[in-house]
Amino acid sequence: MGEYLKISVPATSANLGAGFDVFGVALETPFDIIEFEKSDSIKIEMHGRDSRYIPTDPKRNIAGIVASIMKIPVKITIHRNIPLSSGLGSSAAPAAGTAFGLNEMFSLGHSREELVQIAAHGEKAASGAAHADNVAPAIYGGFVIVHKKNIISLMPRSIGIVAVHPEIIVSTRHARAILPKKLSLEDISFNTGNAASMVVGMMKNDIDLIGESMENRVIEEIRSNLIKGYAQVRQSAIEAGARGVTISGSGPTMIAVCRMDDRENIAKAMISAFSENQVKSEAFITTIGKGVSVLE
Ligand code: HSE
Repeated sequence: MGEYLKISVPATSANLGAGFDVFGVALETPFDIIEFEKSDSIKIEMHGRDSRYIPTDPKRNIAGIVASIMKIPVKITIHRNIPLSSGLGSSAAPAAGTAFGLNEMFSLGHSREELVQIAAHGEKAASGAAHADNVAPAIYGGFVIVHKKNIISLMPRSIGIVAVHPEIIVSTRHARAILPKKLSLEDISFNTGNAASMVVGMMKNDIDLIGESMENRVIEEIRSNLIKGYAQVRQSAIEAGARGVTISGSGPTMIAVCRMDDRENIAKAMISAFSENQVKSEAFITTIGKGVSVLE
């Protein structure tokens, strides 16, 4: 049992279009760094991006809630890099990182499936929403399918990802509330077909198939209304070489899948399209990456 542990835990992108609440990928960047030190009670320290908006009261902080679920008194210091409320799993990262970190440091012997459940529970207690489609890829890495009690992960290689985060506020609660409760048989069939071909695309490292399979009915169309410039940004990414574009999680970040060499051009095109719509944005040029990992 160690006295100290330092980990990195990545941003994640849920849904990938047709896999609503089922698919997620871990991104290589951005990632948060979390340090754990032995302590006589749960203490939280926050540093870095948007940290002033995050409570340090352990009862209201996601990492603190996860430590309390695991019954471990520990000092947790979080260095944030993942933008808040971006659709890039900023609340899943501390939940997944804390579950993983405490399991490692205190040799608790939880399986990865159990860590996903603990992290999802912690995320729900803090944010009201429990979708393991962000915590699961943060823990497993790669492309992850979360369905019923099953978590299946694949590690595709050299899939270029450009994630462009616009300065727009989208609440996940609202982005879920505006969705219809039912889809037509035709739309279900379309989304099921694309979800199935997405899995094959990931298995074969087939960027074209992955890109095509990101198209989805109903969900994206409704949520696109929350993202100013959506249509133009999407079009500009495709013209710059993206094989597919979708909303990351509940947004507002938009992600494009492409060849690794096309990432810079696509990022420029998407930022410029947002800017033509008077929206500032920031691009993360990345790829599908590994999950949470120990640094020290
Ligand atoms: N699958 C979720 C959604 C991700 O799209 O609402 C956000 O938690």
